[in-house]
Amino acid sequence: MKLELRGVSKKYSDHDVNALRDVSLSLDGGDFVAICGPSGCGKSTLLNIVGLIDKPTSGSVLLDGEELNSLDDEKLTALRGKRIGFVFQFFNLLSTLTIEENVALPLELSGQTEEADIRKKVADLLERVGIAKRAKFYPSQLSGGEMQRAAIARAVIHAPQILVADEPTGNLDSESGTVILELLKQLNENDNQTIVMATHSAEAASYASRRVDMRDGRIVVDQASELKVSAGEG
Ligand SMILES: Nc1ncnc2c1ncn2[C@@H]1O[C@H](COP(=O)(O)OP(=O)(O)OP(=O)(O)O)[C@@H](O)[C@H]1O
Ligand SMILES: [Mg+2]
Repeated sequence: MKLELRGVSKKYSDHDVNALRDVSLSLDGGDFVAICGPSGCGKSTLLNIVGLIDKPTSGSVLLDGEELNSLDDEKLTALRGKRIGFVFQFFNLLSTLTIEENVALPLELSGQTEEADIRKKVADLLERVGIAKRAKFYPSQLSGGEMQRAAIARAVIHAPQILVADEPTGNLDSESGTVILELLKQLNENDNQTIVMATHSAEAASYASRRVDMRDGRIVVDQASELKVSAGEG
């Protein structure tokens, strides 16, 4: 897997905001990248483009070498459903579905119909994230940390190529936050899950293997290119 952003800019023209300015970023399979920077610097805008939720105003996005700009919304939605998983600060679980129903959703949306297979996959994953006992609960009956573990299970159940996490610990106390970060790290190390995570927190960023710093819509530091530079020099 390789996802590339080349010279991507995003302008919200109704408010004349340049949320991203000439951003280039390359993600390889197995990367765990933290996107850091102050509020308003463009982290969520960048993640929405990486996660194929939003399109750039200019520049291009390539997935495995294929330019995505020309895809219509329907194709983009299909691609996103198959290849991307999302985790958000406020969990975004569906309140009328139980935890196991929430987690099963991406499989059902992608057309899997074998109920027994789905149930087994969901049960295994809930076990793995440590909330098997909460399978029949509704989201409102869980703690924040448990809800986020359910949200992560839902985000990875269909084995997406990229897991996009926008401030996944932003609404948790530090202990529950640590559990979530450990879980992400485990997914990255054991399953080679590619992860792109936006965060304000240096502590959260330290769980990633690569850090990208943004200011005012631009990438100001990318450890990957630093590594390349120093490898070239040495
Ligand atoms: N739909 C929109 N219309 C106009 N401006 C927007 C829109 N969405 C975001 N922006 C602006 O774009 C800039 C970048 O926003 P973004 O949400 O990407 O920042 P962020 O780094 O994720 O911030 P935070 O850390 O607070 O989540 C901000 O100045 C914001 O006000
Ligand atoms: Mg944000």
